[in-house]
Amino acid sequence: MPLDTRGLTFRQNYFGNPADWSALVALLQDTFGIDVALQDRFGGPDPTSMPFGYFDENGVCAANFSAFSMPMMIDGRLVKAAGFQSGAVRPEWRGRGLYRDLMNRAFGWCDEQGLELGLLLTDKPALYEPYGFRILPQHRFSGPPPVEAKPAGLARRLSIGNPDDLASVMRLLRERTPVSSIFAVASQVEMFLLNSGFDTDIRLAYLDQFEAIVAWKSDETSFQLLDIAGKSIPSLSAILAALDLRPGRIDVCFPPDRLDWQGTPEPFPSYSSLMARGEAANCLDRPVMFSPMAEF
Ligand SMILES: CC(C)(COP(=O)(O)OP(=O)(O)OC[C@H]1O[C@@H](n2cnc3c(N)ncnc32)[C@H](O)[C@@H]1OP(=O)(O)O)[C@@H](O)C(=O)NCCC(=O)NCCS
Repeated sequence: MPLDTRGLTFRQNYFGNPADWSALVALLQDTFGIDVALQDRFGGPDPTSMPFGYFDENGVCAANFSAFSMPMMIDGRLVKAAGFQSGAVRPEWRGRGLYRDLMNRAFGWCDEQGLELGLLLTDKPALYEPYGFRILPQHRFSGPPPVEAKPAGLARRLSIGNPDDLASVMRLLRERTPVSSIFAVASQVEMFLLNSGFDTDIRLAYLDQFEAIVAWKSDETSFQLLDIAGKSIPSLSAILAALDLRPGRIDVCFPPDRLDWQGTPEPFPSYSSLMARGEAANCLDRPVMFSPMAEF
């Protein structure tokens, strides 16, 4: 199928134009029912974003695919990586090769930048396999809680709706050490904030002794640890003591190598697959999970 761009204009790196940003917000709202304009409350979209889009004569965004920088820690090595997101084509423009064109542009741009790894989350893996992406099966790490530790330091609940709390969260996201040496985002601010805003079940607390923010969910019996953004990584027993929680079961949503606790990797059921492309993906032969706070 040849590319058909009649009536459309291609634009790249267009977030500087507020009308184009709004047109992308509308495309994602109409396609996925999500409102990424929430990011305007947190200082706007990721400044490393490189969007590729087609716009019609009325400024409607007909198609988009974006890359953004997301350095990863993988097996103890800092890897220059990109995430790919916001892939959508309006129904009336589908089947014209627009998405293939945008994918080629985005992947080509990342190759030119010397990025070693590309990551994306999708419910349509077949779409990306021709471009060298393969599925990384995700596992969460489950088991009984560690031996109780003595409470040390204070835990203060945070709300990103509170400007002071938001400033603390943003500062620590910028200063964070990766939550795992095996597989973790090394630095990325916007998705953590957006995911906190989207899911009201996510709780955040600041542990003063560790200068770290813990993101978790919990119910009567289980504790789901989603991420830790901080200058140091507390042990799991220190986290539970600081939060004054005694769950019967723990689920950790990232490799727990820095938590002084071991869980059993269990396949993580999800409607979307984590996919990776590039040399750095080939050494990923251990169970991994991409923190839900970094999901995009
Ligand atoms: C998926 C979507 C982006 C495709 O857009 P499109 O402009 O119609 O795609 P194109 O015409 O450029 O087709 C590109 C290729 O993808 C293939 N393709 C299209 N839809 C596909 C699907 N759902 N699953 C697998 N492959 C698909 C096409 O056959 C074509 O293959 P080819 O290059 O070998 O000819 C569009 O249908 C859409 O926006 N869907 C809803 C949102 C969505 O699912 N986005 C992707 C999120 S990860």
